[in-house]
Amino acid sequence: MGLVADPHLVRLINKKGPCVTGHSPDKLIFRSRIAKLPGLLSREVEMRQPLVAGNWKMNGSLASVKKLVEGIKAGLATVTTAELAVCPPYVYIPQVAAMLKGTSVALGAQDVNDRESGAHTGEVAPGMLTDVGCKYAIVGHSERRSIYGESDDFTARKFAAARKAGLVPILCVGELLEERERGITEQVVGRQLDAVIALEGIGALADAVIAYEPVWAIGTGKTASPQQAQDVHAFIRGKLAGLDKAVAAKIQILYGGSVKGSNAAELFSMADIDGGLIGGASLDANDFLAIGRAGNA
Ligand code: PGA
Repeated sequence: MGLVADPHLVRLINKKGPCVTGHSPDKLIFRSRIAKLPGLLSREVEMRQPLVAGNWKMNGSLASVKKLVEGIKAGLATVTTAELAVCPPYVYIPQVAAMLKGTSVALGAQDVNDRESGAHTGEVAPGMLTDVGCKYAIVGHSERRSIYGESDDFTARKFAAARKAGLVPILCVGELLEERERGITEQVVGRQLDAVIALEGIGALADAVIAYEPVWAIGTGKTASPQQAQDVHAFIRGKLAGLDKAVAAKIQILYGGSVKGSNAAELFSMADIDGGLIGGASLDANDFLAIGRAGNA
């Protein structure tokens, strides 16, 4: 594949992050990629593939899930660059796995327990998720944290258990409106990351995804502006870079919170935004595909 023909590379060149702070690792890599380009094949150029993951939450039925997955499959060819993933309610995972067999769409779960098995009524173990074909598991979604009182430490244990079973955790972090207004967004997000780093070490994030989801933007129709999101994403990547530059450069940091087909491209064009975690808009195949296409090179 020639240099210019590589969609990922083209996307990188097109990416227009202002990187005003000048310390974004992405920008640094980007510069080094450009500097080295003449001597490299495009495949050797390090890059982050966008990921667009649908979190269906507690929605659906056998019939509606069938229609949704059929719709996604029908338009899949239009999504050329991003990886798509869907996270159905647990009970529909086998149905979706069967329907997605042979496609490029990955499967994930919306949550996972921190134990391998045993007397934990109502819970689902990480090994059960790999058994039915999941690649990803969301951990620490703000609805788990706020409605079900799940702590940073419990989230970190879920993260560890997911990785141990071979799942890629999608670790959600994000501040409440009141925390943003008090100016402590970075403190909150930093604390949520620290719980995982303290338990698992920075190296563990090499096989993980982070989703920054400002709680005030989830399901409210209020999206963070691309710059507001970019600022927090750059903070996250910068914090990780302080511990391990390679991990920081590799990790996909998704934005979540009222992402739609109409705002996805602008969000995804920011230097440190590597795709999205999509709630409401992932329940409609056309909307979800439109967001997927926003990641096209
Ligand atoms: P939303 O949800 O897209 O409906 O705002 C995002 C999420 O909770 O992951």
